[in-house]
Amino acid sequence: MEETEQPAGGRYFVGRKDELIEAKRSFRTLEDRDIVIIYHQGVFHAIDSYCYHAGGILANGDIEELDGKLCIICPNHKYKISLAKGEGLYRGVDPREEQRVPRWYSKGVKQRVHTVTETDGDVYVQLSEERGWIESDYYQGEQGKVNRAKA
Ligand code: FES
Repeated sequence: MEETEQPAGGRYFVGRKDELIEAKRSFRTLEDRDIVIIYHQGVFHAIDSYCYHAGGILANGDIEELDGKLCIICPNHKYKISLAKGEGLYRGVDPREEQRVPRWYSKGVKQRVHTVTETDGDVYVQLSEERGWIESDYYQGEQGKVNRAKA
């Protein structure tokens, strides 16, 4: 695990851009929160490291575009999580429709997403300040980390 510097203006330095690009997926712990920084198609994303469903390690997931949204697919049970907002996405049909055409639906925000910025080749993460409970918070707490380890 790499150490991070003290935040300037709430931003944590997480690494040099070229190193993070090469790594593609980088694990960091900021304020006891485990996150993964993902570099994909020229863009950095940062999300909670453990899947909101049962604590799967998202750093090992594939990335696909679904319904126009880049999503990480949890390697455990294939839940789909948008990288931009942390929405849980699923494909289903509306039983009220005559022609039951499968389409993508959102379960709402399930995974906490953090802000990545870059200055002069240095990359910073600002942790989400979204208030209220987001399901991925569970696996950042002590009990969640214990249960994740048992799974
Ligand atoms: Fe991620 Fe189940 S732990 S889909």
